[in-house]
Amino acid sequence: MAGFLRRCIAHPLTRGMDIDDPDTTALRLQIIQSKPFLRKLYEEWYQQIATHFSPLAHVLELGSGAGFLKSFMPNLITSELFPTPGVELVIDAQSIALSDASLDGIVMTDVLHHLPDCNSFFLEAARVIRSGGHIVMIEPWNTPWSSWVYTHLHHEPFKVNAVDWRIPSAGPLSGANGALPWIIFHRDRAIFEKLYPKLRLVSIAPFMPFAYLLSGGVSLRSLLPGWMYRFIRSLEKHTNESSHAMFAMIIVERIR
Ligand SMILES: C[S@@+](CC[C@H](N)C(=O)[O-])C[C@H]1O[C@@H](n2cnc3c(N)ncnc32)[C@H](O)[C@@H]1O
Repeated sequence: MAGFLRRCIAHPLTRGMDIDDPDTTALRLQIIQSKPFLRKLYEEWYQQIATHFSPLAHVLELGSGAGFLKSFMPNLITSELFPTPGVELVIDAQSIALSDASLDGIVMTDVLHHLPDCNSFFLEAARVIRSGGHIVMIEPWNTPWSSWVYTHLHHEPFKVNAVDWRIPSAGPLSGANGALPWIIFHRDRAIFEKLYPKLRLVSIAPFMPFAYLLSGGVSLRSLLPGWMYRFIRSLEKHTNESSHAMFAMIIVERIR
């Protein structure tokens, strides 16, 4: 049933696409630009991320994909696992070819839960970010509502009971556990703190229960026009947004 529904509302540009093909990422640029509701959603995410850094900060984005965070942070260094239009560097988050303490921060949207070995990423982040710098990320979050949505309506695995933080190696987009950020920073927080004494979890802010779903994301048609975005977000903010959030903004500090 869910598969049939997905096929009916699939975005015309995404039909027959292999999500791991770099050309798909290039195509997503067009999709985001052609969907005003989704574009406004990214703009809200990017505004929230940009406020954490000074305009001249030396910040690296990992897994930039078809995003446009650079228009909010002109000094940002964009990167992706493979060459793709508009992205400056090819960088694997698990092995970052930059020198020690060379960054004020790392940002990423929807990337951590795709990394096969997040342990390598955390060690690399602690190495390349200067003391006092931050990792700022927006990732899927686990609530009763989001768990139902991600399990029944989304193509990525969402395994809240996974014991292992590692994800079986697949493609850059097909390999995933959407529940991983919740597992690391909530369920296994004590393990995170023990494993990475140079990283301090500063805050977790769960938000956005419905807007992403209504936007159709990068593979489905938008269910609402762009002018309804602010209305939907203000409705969400008047409910208890965090108890049924689908995403969270997570901030981690590199400490001495
Ligand atoms: C769901 S997409 C998000 C793309 C973009 N940040 C956005 O918000 O639209 C996940 C991204 O993570 C990237 N990715 C997966 N594994 C990676 C790795 N090991 N290092 C860097 N990026 C990776 C993928 O190539 C993909 O672009």
